[in-house]
Amino acid sequence: MREKEVRFVYEVFASVKGLGAGDAALMEKARAVTATAYAPYSHFQVGAAALLQNGQVVQGSNQENASFPVGLCAERVLLAAISSLYPQVAIHTMAISYHNLLGESKHPISPCGICRQSLLEYEERLGHPIRLLLSGMEGKVFVIPQAALLLPLSFTSADLK
Ligand code: THU
Repeated sequence: MREKEVRFVYEVFASVKGLGAGDAALMEKARAVTATAYAPYSHFQVGAAALLQNGQVVQGSNQENASFPVGLCAERVLLAAISSLYPQVAIHTMAISYHNLLGESKHPISPCGICRQSLLEYEERLGHPIRLLLSGMEGKVFVIPQAALLLPLSFTSADLK
């Protein structure tokens, strides 16, 4: 028997003020784009903004549906938009924020399991890590160097070979 350990290191900033100007601006875009969410069921508006390797910034928000499973998270809306607009361009950094209309929006949230799987495959496809900035409408910011770190022992295309 062998034991294995999985660990990763991420940074915690007290607010966007501790970030570089580019990262702070990207997080402010993610915060602003929460207003475009279609979230009449959860009242939980999520916004995501990505800086691409070509310098473009693309944004997305969660889009719900009366048939609940049809709803899409902001992260996957954004990945689909980027993949359609700039199919061969890698993502440098993705900022994710949320506005909880029924509560507080002060602590970072991190992507759900399905979105982690989608982010991982995007990294693999373009051969480039996606840096994640996670925060609410105010307060702490987590900086995670690579989305794949959030999904250890993942199932990938390599397993299908
Ligand atoms: N949601 C996201 O858009 N991203 C996440 O990382 C977590 C959850 C959405 C899905 C649903 O529309 C609402 O937030 C409440 O779960």
